[in-house]
Amino acid sequence: MIIVTGANGQLGRMVAERLLERVPAEEIGVSVRDAEAARDLGARGVRVRRGDFADPDTLPHAFEGASKVLIVSTGTTGEAAVRGHRAAVAAAAAAGAKRILYTSHMGASPSSRFVPMPDHAATEEALQRSGVPFTSLRNGFYTSSAVELVRGALETGVLAVPEDGPVAWTAHADLADAAVLALTDEVLDGLSPALTGPEVIDMAGIAEILTRLTGRPIRRVVVSDDEYRAQLIDHGVPESSADLLVGLFAASREGDFAPADPTLADVLGRPVVRVADYLKSALTTRG
Ligand SMILES: NC(=O)c1ccc[n+]([C@@H]2O[C@H](COP(=O)([O-])OP(=O)(O)OC[C@H]3O[C@@H](n4cnc5c(N)ncnc54)[C@H](OP(=O)(O)O)[C@@H]3O)[C@@H](O)[C@H]2O)c1
Repeated sequence: MIIVTGANGQLGRMVAERLLERVPAEEIGVSVRDAEAARDLGARGVRVRRGDFADPDTLPHAFEGASKVLIVSTGTTGEAAVRGHRAAVAAAAAAGAKRILYTSHMGASPSSRFVPMPDHAATEEALQRSGVPFTSLRNGFYTSSAVELVRGALETGVLAVPEDGPVAWTAHADLADAAVLALTDEVLDGLSPALTGPEVIDMAGIAEILTRLTGRPIRRVVVSDDEYRAQLIDHGVPESSADLLVGLFAASREGDFAPADPTLADVLGRPVVRVADYLKSALTTRG
């Protein structure tokens, strides 16, 4: 049985849906914190069990009979995140999984200035120590995150963020398809190459694309890290989230999220989503 965690989240749900197109439902299980929210999957024959990495006693039942487990990283950071991911790796190994897969990130490193990156590196260490064959999917930066970063600029016409660097923005849908192939066809082993979209684009490039798509000028302005942090906090962003965002720009200008890599398109056997196309469709959906 293939177990997918985080199946009530964006990526995990896409993986579960796409797995259903390739694997009989009775061979798929999801481990979720809220079983009620996954009732629709249950109705389609998927085994739905409650599993919470913060409550490891739930995991033996959630992962029972697993041949492979896809551990979708949690959205938390720091020691709690790593503790949860380690618990999930240990539970997958104890359940007898023949392969453990994990959604890591390109640029995962103990020394990155972007807070989730050391967490991913620590989880990758746990995978390496588990003694079980593993696949760490080093996903590129979600293009959906770029949409979040430019939301204010669409209103004001000014994209005022710290100095940045090129980022290989990547669509959830492409990453979900790669995860499904890694679960079913064993296409990736160990630490994967960066799984990215086809190009790197910095914030000035994003502003240009938005200008073209909206027909309204969006001006890219560089502000200092301190100024940006203070503005975020003024707008009610919690300090830890403000620090995380400042760290994102610091890491990007150090090149943590570049270059683009052809592996994702190669694995999928088709072109992957370009940033401009993603933004165009996000703006259309937004109305
Ligand atoms: N590559 C990137 O650029 C990028 C950007 C942002 C995040 N990420 C990482 O990619 C992950 C998946 O992305 P996404 O878009 O699917 O995020 P998402 O929609 O926020 O989903 C995160 C999932 O993690 C689950 N989760 C949280 N705490 C958990 C716990 N203690 N035990 C078990 N599951 C737990 C959540 O469960 P519930 O549904 O119960 O809340 C949710 O299903 C994120 O969680 C984050 O680690 C990557």
